Amino acid sequence: MTQETTTHQATQPTTVTEDTITDVAVARWATAHDPRTAELMTALVRHLHAFARETRLTEAEWMAAVQWLTATGQISDEKREEFILASDVLGLSMLVVAQNHRFDPAATPATVLGPFHIDGSPEREFGEDMSDGLPGELLYVHGTVRSLDGTPVPGAMLDVWQSDADGAYEAQLDVDEARLRAKYTSRPDGTYCVRTIAPRGYAIPMDGPVGALISRTDISYYRPAHIHFLIAVPGFEPLITHLFREHTEFLDSDVVFGVKRELIVGFEQHGPGPTPDGGHSDGPWLEARFDFVLQPA
Ligand code: BEZ
Ligand code: FE
Repeated sequence: MTQETTTHQATQPTTVTEDTITDVAVARWATAHDPRTAELMTALVRHLHAFARETRLTEAEWMAAVQWLTATGQISDEKREEFILASDVLGLSMLVVAQNHRFDPAATPATVLGPFHIDGSPEREFGEDMSDGLPGELLYVHGTVRSLDGTPVPGAMLDVWQSDADGAYEAQLDVDEARLRAKYTSRPDGTYCVRTIAPRGYAIPMDGPVGALISRTDISYYRPAHIHFLIAVPGFEPLITHLFREHTEFLDSDVVFGVKRELIVGFEQHGPGPTPDGGHSDGPWLEARFDFVLQPA
C-alpha cells in the first residue's frame, strides 16, 4: 500500500485498460510473499480473466455467480460442505485426487472423501456390527489389507462410513449416536471384517445452490450404492476410497465421477449359514470380498 502510494506520487498514474488489466493484476498478485501462493494466484487471475473474455461475461452473469457463491457459503456449516459438493460435481475433486495419488496400477485406487465423513468414529472388533440393528440387508465386507508385494498389513485402521438403506448419512440426520460409521483394525494376518447393512444409491443434496444449478441441466444427480473407506497405516500412502456394489444403478453416471472398475465389488447372496466373522446367520446375507492393496509412502 505504502509502496503503491509512493509510486503514484512519483509518476503519472497509468490507465488500466481492458487490454492491460490482466498483466497488471498478475503482476500485483505475483508479489505474494509465499512463492506457491504467488504461483496459484497469478494462474487464477489469468484463467479467470480468460474465462470472462472467452464467454464475454455480462455484469448480470457475474452478479448471478457472486450470489451463487454467497449462497454456497451461507448454506455450509460443520455438517454441510456445499463448496466440497460443488467441487465434486464439477469434477475438480476427482481431478485433484487423480493427480495427487498416482498409485501403482496394482494398488487400490483413491477416490473423493465426499462431504459426509465424520471424525472420531467408534472402534469395532473384527466382524462387529456397525449398523446397530438398522433395517436393511445384512452385509459382510471382508478381505485382507496388504502391500503391493502381497505382504499382509496388520494394525491398519479402516475408517468406514456409509448411507443407510434409504440412502441417508448420519451427517444429514439429527442423531446423537454414531450411525453407520466405525473404525476397524486389521488383524495380525491383515484380515478385516465389517458387519453392516447394504448401502443404497442416493441423490446428492439437491436443496441448495449446487442442486439448483444441476436442476437446470440433464445431469443425473445420483451416486451408485457404495461404502467409504479411509485407511491409514504408517509407511503407506493414506487411502481414501469407496467400494461400489456391482450391477447397481448409476455406476455409469456417478455425479461425482468416483467410480473405478477396480472398486466395483460383487455382493454375493447367501442363505442361512456360517458367516465370515466365524459366526452364523439364521437369515439371508450378502458377502462382499475385497483386498485393499496399499501404496508404500
Ligand atoms: C459421498 O459419497 O458421500 C458423496 C461424495 C461427493 C458428493 C456427495 C456425496
Ligand atoms: Fe457416499
